[in-house]
Amino acid sequence: MYSSVVGGIILDPSMMVIPIDDHMVHRGHGVFDTAMISDGYLYELDSHLDRLLISAAKAKIGSPFSRETLRAILVQMAAASKCRNGSIKYWLSAGPGDFLLSPKGCTDPAFYAVVIASGGAPAPAAGHPRLREGVRAVTSAVPMKHPFFAAMKSVNYLPNALAMADAEERGAYASVWVDDAGGVAEGPMMNVAFVTRGGDLVVPAFDRVLSGCTAKRVLALAPRLVDAGVLRSVAAVGISAAEARRCAEMMFVGSGLPLLPVVEWDGQPVGDGKVGKVALALSDMLCEDMKTGPERVLVPYDQTS
Ligand SMILES: Cc1ncc(COP(=O)(O)O)c(C=O)c1O
Repeated sequence: MYSSVVGGIILDPSMMVIPIDDHMVHRGHGVFDTAMISDGYLYELDSHLDRLLISAAKAKIGSPFSRETLRAILVQMAAASKCRNGSIKYWLSAGPGDFLLSPKGCTDPAFYAVVIASGGAPAPAAGHPRLREGVRAVTSAVPMKHPFFAAMKSVNYLPNALAMADAEERGAYASVWVDDAGGVAEGPMMNVAFVTRGGDLVVPAFDRVLSGCTAKRVLALAPRLVDAGVLRSVAAVGISAAEARRCAEMMFVGSGLPLLPVVEWDGQPVGDGKVGKVALALSDMLCEDMKTGPERVLVPYDQTS
């Protein structure tokens, strides 16, 4: 773990703590992000770091360090952990203060980070049972966040945790939020994407949901499938649940998945109820990108230090 309060990297798990007077702990005044560690590289670190800083600005949270220093700390953390596959999670918080609601007493914003090993397994790739068989989704019974809060990655994930629990209790992998106007929003820790029967890949626009780094990468890679004649178009636009239910394919997209085909939604088959070819092709492209993507998406770290 790294803590700006301690001022360094902590390797003893019993010392990996956050002060109880930190505004993030007692008022939820913090933001976070997560980047995957894939075969010794930090995948999409810069996109995730940019989103952390955007979330922090929206939540009126400063940073103890420049972006460059935050990035250097994360790279050094990954190296110190010697982790090859897993994730790195990091937080900017209003910092320790006086236990009051006003953040005025929190004079020094704090930065924390932790590396979580995934037990050596890289992200699910071709042949993984969830990819082969697909997963089930349900429309969330838990109210969704207002777009103002959904578009920033704050630590207030109670609706998300309850939506996940709700889905699991109903025998699904995850839930999907549908807004009051009937538009598809996102899942509790992932974006969703659809392929229409005409071959259009549609990712619900990011104006009301979290701007997913994986979904954005899918949007950048998918035009190759248009060139190959597999898709007709690729877009991030609004899609109603009614239209979405008529689609040929549906998928969850997010760090760590990175893509899971959804074969059943609210007890009804999606398309023909089988894993679709676009989902498989996009999953292959993402997994390949995590291994051999361009330098700007794969940040190496020194594993010998
Ligand atoms: C609510 C929500 N939507 C979408 C995502 C997907 O974002 P990403 O692809 O950057 O992991 C996440 C994961 O962070 C999330 O928590």
